[in-house]
Amino acid sequence: MNSDEIRSKYIAHFVSKGHKEISAARLLAENDPTLLFVNSGMFPLVPYLLGEKHPSGNRLVNYQRSFRTDDIEEVGDKRHTTFFEMLGNWSLGDYFKKDQLNWWYEFIVEELKLDPARIYQSVFAGNDLVSRDEESISVLQEIYKKYGVSDGVGPATVGDGEKGPGEEIDFNKSRIFPYLDKNWWKRGDAVGELGGPDSETFYDTGKSHDPKFGKYCHVNCSCGRFIEIGNSVFMQYRKTVDGWEELTQKNVDFGGGLERLTMVCNQAPNLFKTDVFSSYVEFIESKSGIKYDDIPSSYEIITDHIRAVTFLIGDGGIPSNKDQGYFIRRLIRRGLVHLNKVGVNFDVFIDLSRLVIKKMSAVYPQLTKNEETIVSLISEEVQKFSRTLDKGVKYFNDIKPVNNSISGQDAFNLLTTYGFPIELTREMAKDKGWNIDEKEFAEKIIQHKDLSRQGADQKFKSGLADTAEATIKLHTATHMLHQALRQVLGEHVQQKGSNITPERLRFDFSHPQKMTELEIKQVENIVNENIVKKLPVYCEETSPEDAKNHGAIGLFDKKYGEKVTVYSIGATLNSKEKPYSREICTGPHVKNTEELVKFKIIKEEACSSGIRRIKAILV
Ligand code: ALA
Repeated sequence: MNSDEIRSKYIAHFVSKGHKEISAARLLAENDPTLLFVNSGMFPLVPYLLGEKHPSGNRLVNYQRSFRTDDIEEVGDKRHTTFFEMLGNWSLGDYFKKDQLNWWYEFIVEELKLDPARIYQSVFAGNDLVSRDEESISVLQEIYKKYGVSDGVGPATVGDGEKGPGEEIDFNKSRIFPYLDKNWWKRGDAVGELGGPDSETFYDTGKSHDPKFGKYCHVNCSCGRFIEIGNSVFMQYRKTVDGWEELTQKNVDFGGGLERLTMVCNQAPNLFKTDVFSSYVEFIESKSGIKYDDIPSSYEIITDHIRAVTFLIGDGGIPSNKDQGYFIRRLIRRGLVHLNKVGVNFDVFIDLSRLVIKKMSAVYPQLTKNEETIVSLISEEVQKFSRTLDKGVKYFNDIKPVNNSISGQDAFNLLTTYGFPIELTREMAKDKGWNIDEKEFAEKIIQHKDLSRQGADQKFKSGLADTAEATIKLHTATHMLHQALRQVLGEHVQQKGSNITPERLRFDFSHPQKMTELEIKQVENIVNENIVKKLPVYCEETSPEDAKNHGAIGLFDKKYGEKVTVYSIGATLNSKEKPYSREICTGPHVKNTEELVKFKIIKEEACSSGIRRIKAILV
């Protein structure tokens, strides 16, 4: 059964249990100060898990493309990828543990035909707040009885559980294992995050235990014998300053990795020997004398990263030096270093991206729609880095470490002169058994930033050159322009810079190509229509979280304090109406859009790679 069939079967299975299929979110998280990427299917569902009514009801199912930065360094171990598809189903205050576990097991045992004797489960071990998950244990025991396999509860593991319970486990008898930290899922650590006890499903690959990872094997052991294929989170709590509070509704948040399910369903030895990756692996092998089995980790890094990058750019991402764009750049550069190791031409990276688009486009049509943008942004990055890669590798090879440590200055030079992301240098150093003088590296970076900041500080806040009346009007016009650009071009448009004088505004924003004349006209028209509407401009204070919940655009990557000022054009924070524009901003602004009279774009040009610049005036 290939990955496409498994994806469809899963959706159909949960639709047959009364679920509605919902669409997925873009990979690049929007207006979320705590996370840059969508890392699980529940990500866009937070308001509904908190009790808001979902328009599609209270049983939902989908597949969500997800990207986890935490796993970048794990890629290469045969089990991890940064990008994956999460199969998800949710109960928003509807069914709970019994139905969830039964339906999931029906899917894996009856539909995917996994051998129940190879399936194991973990449950929450219990602490002061929430007791051991007896309910899941008894539901699971019923299920195992039904399938005629043993149903014993094994020894519990407390704490972070890395080392397991410290005793030999008889996997013929025990099938359910209580863990503490490992079975409490949370999306992040910020106050307000949702979480709860969870119950994970593991598949026994039959590999023998590798004692390098601990004396005794257990289901969460990193040796690779057991692989996690699904997680049922019983989402009942919300993080407070010093603990967790119960939610008004009991939810189920299930997520399972499509790639891993494909692997176990086909009894493939690893993810890269499934249909998800095999065509990419074979393509590289056809160009290289070095095969996957000779250098698996490089193959895994290349193929995972090209899939991630293709999807990230397909969802509006642009390689750059900060935030989301930085991860895209880092993945491309790391991918190229490994292509170098495999000894093939860098054009292969671009060919691979086209292969990803071709393979996935039936399910993700946006990839085909954005094919030329994806390929041209990747090509540009490849060209840029290929100019310095060889010299950088040579520089690295010439380094003479002192006490196995590379100086901060060398790491800094590799970054600034040769474009080697620090993480890449760290990894290359680690391969040689070296480390980096991190303290010195950090000092160099701070000195460098201080120098470039000196210029920026001379400007006023919010990019204003002064606070003359004309400048203030253009500042409000900048917010209106920003919103109009997002409406016309898409939500990938983000402010990258702003500079306002009494004569004109200058606005830099992310967008991969030149705007057409029609798009420029549409943007102008939207701004002018909203000037004519005489919309009031409101200035209000609130928490960053509340601002975010009300759709405010947060600028740059700054950390906000407890209170932020929000400027809304057309509707206040507590109004039911949608404002025309809402941004976190320090001001100042006009009182009403009519003061702007008429807006005109005088220039649209490239600013830097993936960034456009508009100059506009009020006439
Ligand atoms: N949200 C849960 C996870 O990501 C299902 O594991």
